[in-house]
Amino acid sequence: MRIISGIQPTGELHIGNYLGAVKQWVRLQENNECFFFIADLHALTREYQPRSFQENIFEKAVDLLSLGLDPEKCVIFIQSQIKEHTELAWLLNVITKVAELERMTQYKEKAKKFRQNINAGLLTYPVLQAADILIYQTDAVPVGRDQIQHIELARTIARKFNNIFGQTFKEPKAMMLKEGAKIMSLQDPKKKMSKSDSPQGCIGVFDPPELIKKRVMSAVTDTGKGIKYYPAKKPGISNLVTIFSLFSEKPIKEVERKFKGKGYSDFKKELTDLLVKKLELFRQKKKSLIRREAYVREILEQGRRRAQSIADSTMKEVRANMGLM
Ligand code: ADP
Ligand code: TRP
Repeated sequence: MRIISGIQPTGELHIGNYLGAVKQWVRLQENNECFFFIADLHALTREYQPRSFQENIFEKAVDLLSLGLDPEKCVIFIQSQIKEHTELAWLLNVITKVAELERMTQYKEKAKKFRQNINAGLLTYPVLQAADILIYQTDAVPVGRDQIQHIELARTIARKFNNIFGQTFKEPKAMMLKEGAKIMSLQDPKKKMSKSDSPQGCIGVFDPPELIKKRVMSAVTDTGKGIKYYPAKKPGISNLVTIFSLFSEKPIKEVERKFKGKGYSDFKKELTDLLVKKLELFRQKKKSLIRREAYVREILEQGRRRAQSIADSTMKEVRANMGLM
């Protein structure tokens, strides 16, 4: 299968991004034709620092490599270097209904949050995302739960385009994990873990051990006791159990059994140790990669070339089918 997914360069990668998205990517690259990119154009829709932006983009590429993406097994590139994404986004804009975009949960949330700066890019964000996906004739898109609605919209747009202009795009499928698709904030387990919402509620994948400890030990738990997975009544502890289960690769039932009769603080100590141990590998890898700038740039250049050739061939067809000269 051909697979594509992207991640924005702003904000540090947290364990929600890892468990919901990147961990799947690492697995999928083994048996599929995979494309992963840094969605720098999407990141422009929020306030950002132009001076450090290039650095953020480069660092995000280093991050993905540190987490296990292998340039021998997948294509890694930067969205804005393939100009056809924005060209296709414009063309798809003209067949997308504003009402459909206004219905998107992410748009509604952001529009509420950034009331003074609802730029048009926030609204058309999913159209660019559809272009990212459709231009590569993608079969499947692995993402966390918050992005499913955008992938569904990409499908709708593909179908509509094909109906109007003739068969041009594949209809992509969303791909989501059963567990880990939504890791919750450690401070407010009713909300998803998100760097921009609450840094205290996040654990960064490259955080040092002391910080990991601090974040886990101060994580909100629920009244009562017992290490139980019961999201409706015990969202805090359930989230921590999920994290433990995914990092230890043990089923939730087994985690519950392991901590039977133990209290929150024993469990949190073990969770801290587990995270410190697992994340240490990523930290080491990043330390060495961040110094190999030329190597990383070469990977991105090769990725750019491979992505460009597919984008070119799809766009040729799109232009012809839409009647452009
Ligand atoms: P963020 O939402 O933190 O700004 P991105 O939008 O760049 O991060 O998301 C990158 C990927 O990580 C997407 O596939 C998204 O669905 C996934 N993701 C983000 N937050 C979480 C979370 N809390 N739990 C699971 N997956 C997540
Ligand atoms: N919007 C996605 C996010 O915030 C990132 C993204 C952009 C993406 N283009 C994509 C994900 C295409 C999958 C496919 O997480």
